[in-house]
Amino acid sequence: MADTIVILDFGSQYTQVIARRIRECNVYSTILRFDTPAKKIAKIYPKGIILSGGPASVCDANAPLLDKNIFELGVPILGICYGMQLIAHFLGGKVEKGLKREYGKTNLTVVDDACLLFKNLPNNLVVWNSHGDKLTALPEGFVVVGITENSDYAAIEYPAKKIFGLQFHPEVVHTPRGKEILSNFVHQICGCDKNWTMRNYIDQAVSQIQQQVGNENVILGLSGGVDSSVATALIHKAIGDQLTCIFVNNGLLRAKESEFVQQVFVQNFKIKLVYEDATDIFLKRLKGVKDPEKKRKIIGKTFIEVFESATKKVGKAKFLAQGTLYPDVIESVPIGGNPASLIKSHHNVGGLPKRMKFELVEPLKCLFKDEVRQLGIELGLPREIVYRQPFPGPGLAVRIVGEVNSERLEILRNADWIVVEEMKNSGWYYKIWQSFAVLIPVRSVGVMGDERTYDYTIAIRAVDSQDGMTADWVKLPYEILEKLSSRIVNEVQGVNRCVFDITSKPPGTIEWE
Ligand code: XMP
Repeated sequence: MADTIVILDFGSQYTQVIARRIRECNVYSTILRFDTPAKKIAKIYPKGIILSGGPASVCDANAPLLDKNIFELGVPILGICYGMQLIAHFLGGKVEKGLKREYGKTNLTVVDDACLLFKNLPNNLVVWNSHGDKLTALPEGFVVVGITENSDYAAIEYPAKKIFGLQFHPEVVHTPRGKEILSNFVHQICGCDKNWTMRNYIDQAVSQIQQQVGNENVILGLSGGVDSSVATALIHKAIGDQLTCIFVNNGLLRAKESEFVQQVFVQNFKIKLVYEDATDIFLKRLKGVKDPEKKRKIIGKTFIEVFESATKKVGKAKFLAQGTLYPDVIESVPIGGNPASLIKSHHNVGGLPKRMKFELVEPLKCLFKDEVRQLGIELGLPREIVYRQPFPGPGLAVRIVGEVNSERLEILRNADWIVVEEMKNSGWYYKIWQSFAVLIPVRSVGVMGDERTYDYTIAIRAVDSQDGMTADWVKLPYEILEKLSSRIVNEVQGVNRCVFDITSKPPGTIEWE
């Protein structure tokens, strides 16, 4: 069992970032609700506990508090921002409501060289703050470790009990040496080994899957996206032919996608795969439908029907595997602000109907996306799969404005192919969140040679994002835009105009429908 750091979530928008930074130090971390009882935490045998920040004020009557027996567990504790104020609140310090919020970068001076939190770090550090309340008196037993212009207690320590508090956020990138501070906490102070690696995880997950599944069969809906692909490779490693994947071609896929997925998984990995070409059903049901929500509903419902009938072809299977990730299962914290669990973009919630009585196998349930990618590489999946950009479940249908039909799909596929190709050639594809073509089926006039044309428009969308919830449009170099436009208009029949979408999210969405 890997050494574990427990993170108690007080509703900070950075709770998941703390968890990821700890794992980047090769230490397993798990997020629990702020009010998790100390007894329950003790059963996990954590090597350390981190109290996250949060939007509340310890001065408020309804502030989220913790089980104070946590301070008696005898494991090191690090409180960050609100977490530090909680420590002071419980152990006899004084917290006052600040007159104004301190927000942004500031300089921290480390005044206690002996503090292990800052081992091997300079005495002057740039750190990032975001807090309203302020510590104004230390609890007994604590010493000052770091100060800033605005705070005499920016970093504090209770040496006898290994309890630490930081007013600033070491987890964010704006605290450039923050990861080293967290690394010092988990390695120097908590004594964690560096045993959380995806190579180790494979062994652990393989034996867990084997244990759970026994001799039974497992079905998995393979989309060709990162999560279902990595889940497939991992489960296949564990149980081989007991796994059957179902790949549904809904007719809304990118060019050559179904061939590519079959080549990777059937030819290379020798995975049993049921290929279900349901193009006709999907397109028939989408005929004449213009409303985006209606389109999405039809596609979702049809997918379930097709998938369910395909499962019957597989024979008896007790388990259904899914590529659920950690951010989808973290319990939400009902405090104002931004609970960790809200930072996710999941359009496919709801899943399969209850009548399909499967038990779930979810071997990625404790992993973050970047870990899933590393795992995919360890399992030998091609980089093209592991680092591919997100692609929406309803496929090209949400990138065609209005009605979807095979003529429009063909045009969009050809344009999309050029976008992907040029983005890859220029090195931009893997640098950004998403880049794709959108078909605007409005005709405008153009000239080609001596002829007048009256054709559709393609919009190019390129966005950068951390999680899909917000996004900025990417300032692609003019040379790339020029190449894209000229190739699309020249090579894609039915298109005579190309535009670039310069809308961020919000107020726009990433997909057009
Ligand atoms: P929007 O358009 O809502 O997209 O800004 C945010 C992110 O989610 C992806 N997306 C989907 N993913 N099923 C998915 O699995 C869907 O129905 C779906 N719709 C949008 C989108 O590509 C972007 O990354």
